[in-house]
Amino acid sequence: MCGIVGVVGLRDATPLLFGALRRLEYRGYDSAGIATLVNGHIERRRAEGKLDNLGIVLERFALPGVTGIGHTRWATHGAPTEGNAHPHGTERVSVVHNGIIENHAELRAELEQAGQNFTTETDTETVAQMVDLHLKQGMTPSQAAHACLKRLHGAYALAMIFAGHPELMIGARHGAPLAVGFGEDEMFLGSDSLALAPLTRRIAYLRDGDWAVLSRHGAEFFDLDGTPAPFEIKTSALPGGAIGKDGYRHYMEKELHEHPLVIGQTLQRMIDPATRRVVLPELPFDLATIPRITMTACGSAFYAGLIGRSWLESEARIPVDADVASELRYREPPLARGGLGLLISQSGETADTLAALRSLREAGQHVLSVLNVAESTMARESDIVLDTIAGPEICVASTKAFTAQLSVLACLAIATGRARGTIDEAREEILVQALLDLPGRAAELFGLAPMIQQAAQIVAEARDVLYLGRGSHFPVALEGALKLKEISYIHAEAYAAGEMKHGPIALIDRNVPIVASAPSGRLFDKTASNLQEAQARGGRLLVFTDPDGAARMERIAECTIVLPETHAFAAPILHSIAVQMLAYEVALLKGTDVDQPRNLAKSVTVE
Ligand code: M6R
Repeated sequence: MCGIVGVVGLRDATPLLFGALRRLEYRGYDSAGIATLVNGHIERRRAEGKLDNLGIVLERFALPGVTGIGHTRWATHGAPTEGNAHPHGTERVSVVHNGIIENHAELRAELEQAGQNFTTETDTETVAQMVDLHLKQGMTPSQAAHACLKRLHGAYALAMIFAGHPELMIGARHGAPLAVGFGEDEMFLGSDSLALAPLTRRIAYLRDGDWAVLSRHGAEFFDLDGTPAPFEIKTSALPGGAIGKDGYRHYMEKELHEHPLVIGQTLQRMIDPATRRVVLPELPFDLATIPRITMTACGSAFYAGLIGRSWLESEARIPVDADVASELRYREPPLARGGLGLLISQSGETADTLAALRSLREAGQHVLSVLNVAESTMARESDIVLDTIAGPEICVASTKAFTAQLSVLACLAIATGRARGTIDEAREEILVQALLDLPGRAAELFGLAPMIQQAAQIVAEARDVLYLGRGSHFPVALEGALKLKEISYIHAEAYAAGEMKHGPIALIDRNVPIVASAPSGRLFDKTASNLQEAQARGGRLLVFTDPDGAARMERIAECTIVLPETHAFAAPILHSIAVQMLAYEVALLKGTDVDQPRNLAKSVTVE
């Protein structure tokens, strides 16, 4: 997945495009490029690696022009080299693309047969070469683009400019998002409204399958048959200013420190301060009669969903199926109509989650999404959205959005329990109080930094790490292992603590540290026994627990990190922050690129 942007107007295009690419860099940073029209000719600058590299190229070789397109790439087809960097094209057309053209091999063979000369390994170049061929055959740019779009299979958001047409830009989308921005005497295209926020707040989202022809005066929208298509201009609420690190070393460090604020803000939306009861927005279905929930998401969002599942099942006694979105959408589980599809996503653009949303809807499920980006595609396609108030999350590794998702899911579980009569007022009061205590408890966690740094020294020396947890703390272990892999490149595996003896125990020796999330409570003794088994085999234990659990752990653990006392219901939220902090400290020791780890992108908009 990649970020794309385009402008047609009167101002110098390159600085506008570069600024927008900066806001899109979360989508990928394997390479970047810009093309503009200079005296009617297409000129481009490209660079391998991060956007800063393109900045250096642009300083040396300025790129004038008032009409242009830009791209930041997360490689899918073709190595992340300058040669494969977008924009792609010929002397007649230049194209940027987000998505995957699935029938590119077949189209490429056809176009090569027709005499088109390919210069890259990318699927995107097929689009450029096909449009080029149609232009050579005498079609207008709109005719050429339309003829090409009808041949494409797969997912695309596209922006194109044409030599000899200084006031023209064409955009198209199918399965990948594209926003059209309306300015004063200038028009824009962008992968999302965040990219366009400093340029314009007036945004229309292309419907799936539609395309648009833009001049600096406005835009015409069409469907794939070429029939004029409706569109609606909305005012984006996103901040236009740049998001800084506010003195922190990394966005991740800043975002970790925002946990207390984000949890507080998110809870404030869902808990009535007067009655101290959970109040959800009006739902288009009845939580009391929903027979079953199907929860799906990807990565960290899925792990948040697993914790949500344990709350929904234990507090609301409702069955919850859980599967990662990339599996759920092809598994085709039999679902009785009238169930609830529960989708969780920070970006609201993750291709797998979006496709799962659509398949759940087709299966007759209501669709409730927990989202951080209110202007995302998933927000537009859901029956109801519960917002996480985490603000923009810049670091590729998710932190504050994860705990905001947990805050929403905890409130959803309470509201569902109340609707189904499994939670009475007294129980609700206890659970709500546990949640309201969280911002304060989360702030206390930062005082544990010296202990966490000590544990990080042990983890940083390892090649492999095991993470263990039971019940709602197994997903905490999954989150801890994922975060460590993402930002420190150390191999980590998470297991339900009771599963260790069924195989992974064979891995244990002094070189494989074991990180455990083990608060006191119902499952503590069981987890402690599992950890004892590991310690007996030479395992080095690093244990996150609470004051009650600490006494027993101190005897067996090399490092016991004592989290503040909290109710068992809220404990997974605190423990998640702690394992994220550990991953951050390890990454610092390893000297990795914390905010933009290799091979990753923040929003994965391809399958
Ligand atoms: O935007 P989403 O929440 O849908 O993204 C889902 C995953 O791609 C995301 O959580 C990913 O696993 C993060 N890099 C985790 O830190």
